Amino acid sequence: MVEAEPLADGTAASVAQASRLRGEIALPGDKSISHRALMLALLGEGESRIRVASDGADVRSTAAIARALGASVTRMEAAGGGPGRVDYLVASPGPAGLRQPAGTLDCGNSGTTLRLFAGILAGLPLRVTLDGDGSLRGRPVARIIEPLRAMGAVLSARRQDTLPPVTVEGRTQLRAVDWATAVPSAQVKSAILLAGLRAHGTTRIRESVATRDHTERMLRARGVTVRSVAESSGGATIEIEGGADVRAIETRVPGDPSAAAFWLVAGAIHPDAELHLGGVGVNPTRRGAIDLLRAMGAVIDERDPRDDSGEPVADLVVRSSALRGIEVTAADTARAIDEIPVLCLAATQAVGATRIRGIGELRFKESDRVAGTAAGLRALGADISVDGDDLLITGPTRLHGAVVESFGDHRLAMTFAIAGLIADGSTTVIGAGSATISDPGFFGQVEAARA
Ligand code: S3P
Repeated sequence: MVEAEPLADGTAASVAQASRLRGEIALPGDKSISHRALMLALLGEGESRIRVASDGADVRSTAAIARALGASVTRMEAAGGGPGRVDYLVASPGPAGLRQPAGTLDCGNSGTTLRLFAGILAGLPLRVTLDGDGSLRGRPVARIIEPLRAMGAVLSARRQDTLPPVTVEGRTQLRAVDWATAVPSAQVKSAILLAGLRAHGTTRIRESVATRDHTERMLRARGVTVRSVAESSGGATIEIEGGADVRAIETRVPGDPSAAAFWLVAGAIHPDAELHLGGVGVNPTRRGAIDLLRAMGAVIDERDPRDDSGEPVADLVVRSSALRGIEVTAADTARAIDEIPVLCLAATQAVGATRIRGIGELRFKESDRVAGTAAGLRALGADISVDGDDLLITGPTRLHGAVVESFGDHRLAMTFAIAGLIADGSTTVIGAGSATISDPGFFGQVEAARA
């Protein structure tokens, strides 16, 4: 088994109420883009340089798998780095030169690693098993097995092909498919697109709710023809032409908007805060949390809009804000899927009711985030309930320090740590070490921001 980086789990962290929050937050590189940059570097023959990538455990899992498949992957300190960022130099023989790994490939805690590699492996002449930790072994995979099988690859998984580990026996000539995804998932779309690279003809994916489009942008930047049509209903149709080579290029990864969301909420709900976040990714399919916080009344300035390797980026400043409750649609939820737990925290400080619709997929993340968010925020004193596929929060409520369980889920651990900055007394987050999955510098920033 190729080992992923061990996770400092079972750890607890105590966060005391902060009297003020100030300063510049150093964000990790975007996790979604970092995974894809490594994977596309593996598929591009030659040298690819990736700057300021995420140094979280998830992306390290992807790097280890790229190495096991035959690329040389060198991880280097990033210039002006900080704990969450790293540079990579990848030298790949290209798809024809990739090799059969010695054992099972360990995706650690990372659903993106497992699902996107399944798409890549579907088009390679190898037989590979993808596995992961206890959390990943509980996450659904039929959603990728079905389309990849329809394309001609042979896949199997535990429990009647529903749960990892997943074994992929690839075929170098895949069939193009026309696939309507049953759940809004960029991971599923990306797995099909990556397999579509090796298919004969045009592969088409129809989404009823559009999801993050990093794979499409990054494939285009590497010379592959990908077309997207946004529908007025909020859906999208994406087409990829099979058979193209992926070019090896240099990528600069934007600051992670999902990591930024914790600080945007911290700044907005703390009564004495001004926080600066430089170089944040503001891709329209990822900026849902920024837009929703603004709709709630958050004071967020967006400065110096620019482009980093085909992704829109800006500097953000957030200040203490008076928030009000809002209605969040299912399409909004898809654009803020990883930020919903921390947006629920924001809603506990907003005047009135917030209803967040379309949260079903949150039950299948690193943990059941619907149950975990509700239980943790309730323990801190919030008024939060679940109504079918909606979350309902009524505010404002004063939060009181307590012991809260993150279930080893990085986004819950960081949500409760941010709650600790405004809650009376001290908040203990069980499983706080999971923050290293996406932001190894997070708890250092918590201490720096209060100084
Ligand atoms: C991701 C897509 C989302 C998100 C995950 C990263 C990606 O998952 O929750 O953290 O990089 O494509 P789904 O596509 O399954 O919703």
